[in-house]
Amino acid sequence: MAELDQVKAFLGCPTPQAWLDQALAHLDILLVDHAHCEKKAASTALNLLFRYVDKRNLLFKLSQLAREEMLHFEQVLELMEQHGVTYAHLTPARYAQGLRQHIRQQEPEKLVDTLIIGAFIEARSCERFDALAPLLIANPDTADIGRYYVFLLKSESRHYEDYLELAREYSSVSIEDRIEFFRQIERELIESPDTDFRFHSGVPAGVLKSRQ
Ligand SMILES: [Fe+2]
Ligand SMILES: [Fe+2]
Repeated sequence: MAELDQVKAFLGCPTPQAWLDQALAHLDILLVDHAHCEKKAASTALNLLFRYVDKRNLLFKLSQLAREEMLHFEQVLELMEQHGVTYAHLTPARYAQGLRQHIRQQEPEKLVDTLIIGAFIEARSCERFDALAPLLIANPDTADIGRYYVFLLKSESRHYEDYLELAREYSSVSIEDRIEFFRQIERELIESPDTDFRFHSGVPAGVLKSRQ
């Protein structure tokens, strides 16, 4: 499993404090969006299983990943029930589309970019679970959610590592430049003002303060 320090070093910036404040104030939206994200993570992996049937390591790693994401989905639904949060539709964060719009259209670049983006989404999720966990555990009403996030960040760091390994395997050239390119895009999405609050949203619009 990738160490947490390694995951944090991979990302271009830490989660801003203003986002963490917003998350604690809107735990219901956070949980509903989190449930959507788990489902979406499974669906993205399944799509890749349909598109790249000739890539053995991708098939095995992403099949397992999709199963784990669906399990997380059920666990988040249970947490929501325990906290009286109703599942509902939510517009997605700008985050995933903000990254995916830069995917190159020819192969194997398309696959490599998709896998690098997968690594960033998993790494950011892991970093946010780690930042949220102690804050949630400090409050007896939300300590169970915090403990669950400590459990989840282990799988997310493994998913980060799997996506990155697959990206390296299926690229014939070094992917470091491409990682750096997406690192800057991702950082911009996390550090710029965002009018929506979601699991992967940016700095709540109007509250521009840094965590450091
Ligand atoms: Fe997950
Ligand atoms: Fe994941």
